[in-house]
Amino acid sequence: MTIVATLLAAAVARLRAAGVESAPLEAQLLLARVLRQDRVWLAVNRDRAVAAADRARFERMVRQRCTRKPLQQILGETEFYGRRILVNRSVLVPRPETELLVGQVAERWRPRYRRVLDIGTGTGCIAVALALELPRARITATEISARALAVARRNVERHGLSRRIELAKADLFPPGRVRFDVVVSNPPYIPTRQIPGLQPEVARYEPVTALDGGSDGLSFYRRISARLGSALAPGGLLALEVGDGQAAAVRDIVRCALPSAAVGTVDDYRGTPRIVVASVPQR
Ligand SMILES: C[S@@+](CC[C@H](N)C(=O)[O-])C[C@H]1O[C@@H](n2cnc3c(N)ncnc32)[C@H](O)[C@@H]1O
Repeated sequence: MTIVATLLAAAVARLRAAGVESAPLEAQLLLARVLRQDRVWLAVNRDRAVAAADRARFERMVRQRCTRKPLQQILGETEFYGRRILVNRSVLVPRPETELLVGQVAERWRPRYRRVLDIGTGTGCIAVALALELPRARITATEISARALAVARRNVERHGLSRRIELAKADLFPPGRVRFDVVVSNPPYIPTRQIPGLQPEVARYEPVTALDGGSDGLSFYRRISARLGSALAPGGLLALEVGDGQAAAVRDIVRCALPSAAVGTVDDYRGTPRIVVASVPQR
């Protein structure tokens, strides 16, 4: 008879040997998923026998995680801004830093704002979180990858937001001459040559289209900024997530594009400048 405690201990040892940092937590999350329970249940049922079919499913998941496939891809979902978001190999796994981006837009939201553009929506996590936080927002979310867009569509539908979030397969900006009150983006920002050296979860399993920011990592900030003069409405707000060490350069790019805007940065929970925000004055 194999019990919960024995299964977990063996899985933790294997995950640790494979270089998984939070092996105990991840083993619990995987077994909890297989048994359709939560981690507290595991803690109080350590001596409970686990059926052969569940052991086999758990074994498959542990084996996948040992290849450094991201936990969220194995589970098929993650939590973002308190909401469940579907993920797969076609999309970037939403990161906690990006919750800060959503928080900044929600904090700076003005009652007169309506139209929001989310560039490079991936799972749709930013668009979904903003739509749920800001009931008056109407969001256009663009994405270059058809596979990512399919994931975004499922997330938008799952949260009942199809009428308020329009998804568009587009290169950064949607066609037409619409001006947006808010432009938000977490664009690809890793310098190309750094991608192979990233942790295996990212380098092996996340789509390169979601990571590659060109030779210096800043190419998307330049391309987005070049269009802001015509895409951002007077009195509007821009909020961009940036990579480590990129804030000053992105601030300069945005200042050049929006000379009259007040441009600043917001630090993440580790004290690293993570969000560049710009407020355009009203004419
Ligand atoms: C860093 S990921 C961010 C995904 C999601 N917004 C998030 O914060 O988790 C960047 C996204 O931009 C998309 N992307 C890359 N190039 C693009 C382009 N030219 N136009 C629109 N989207 C693009 C990628 O496919 C990817 O989904």
